[in-house]
Amino acid sequence: MARLSGKTAAITGGAGGIGAAIARLFAEQGATLALLDLNGDGAAENASALNGAGHYGGAVDVGEEASVASAFATAAEAVGEIDILVNTAAIAGAAPVEEMAVADWDDMIRINLRGTFLCCRAVIPAMRQRKWGRIVNFASEVAHRGNPGLSHYAASKAAVIAFSKCLALEAVGDGVCVNTLSPGPTDTSMLAGIEEEVIDKLVNDLMPIGRLGKTEEIAAAALFLASDDASFCVGTTLNVNGGTYLH
Ligand SMILES: NC(=O)c1ccc[n+]([C@@H]2O[C@H](COP(=O)([O-])OP(=O)(O)OC[C@H]3O[C@@H](n4cnc5c(N)ncnc54)[C@H](O)[C@@H]3O)[C@@H](O)[C@H]2O)c1
Repeated sequence: MARLSGKTAAITGGAGGIGAAIARLFAEQGATLALLDLNGDGAAENASALNGAGHYGGAVDVGEEASVASAFATAAEAVGEIDILVNTAAIAGAAPVEEMAVADWDDMIRINLRGTFLCCRAVIPAMRQRKWGRIVNFASEVAHRGNPGLSHYAASKAAVIAFSKCLALEAVGDGVCVNTLSPGPTDTSMLAGIEEEVIDKLVNDLMPIGRLGKTEEIAAAALFLASDDASFCVGTTLNVNGGTYLH
């Protein structure tokens, strides 16, 4: 039986690797999707390729309050009030602290953390009203482990975990379950700028499973957290990382 039939789901970062895989799986499971991304054309293209009818794709800058308000209003008009929100939109980058530009630090926090806050805030009232909702925020294994050069990214993702725990406590009384999914290195364009030797070293030194994650493996975990099956999951962080940081 389809696990999301009759549900609407908004996915930020819906033009990206993990967001697109989640969209495909959720559509196969009967959800109607609103894909939102800085790359609005990519989101619209992905939406039109999904199983079933009535999906929507459009532009948003998750870090900008007005953009989030108008994108979520348009999405709700297109697919109905949002039952499930999956916040995958994020940026990455690398620099040691003493060489890091303040603008790069600010962008990381604006998009990864403020963006998560703004998008959650946009959907919570309607979820509360309907006494059912699921929010899946995205962290990263780096938030737990630390990594030289990724201080701004890791800090933004650790803050997403803390933010999600607080929101989970605020919303659980109205049937809204807020959780965080924390992937390990996964084969998407987010890793595209990293040299092959660096990836090989990462896989060999840090990943007991001996390979990168596949987007479908992250999507499967997102489906669990977005479904009725996660009704007892409140403010948890689900690590899906091939054993990264176990040794
Ligand atoms: N790929 C990995 O190895 C990995 C590992 C751990 C965590 N993650 C997390 O998983 C999530 C998905 O990552 P991915 O690998 O699919 O990355 P991706 O780069 O393929 O997708 C990210 C998407 O976010 C969008 N985006 C960027 N800035 C935006 C903004 N201001 N407003 C709206 N959209 C914006 C991009 O256009 C892109 O489509 C991210 O939160 C990432 O931090 C990824």
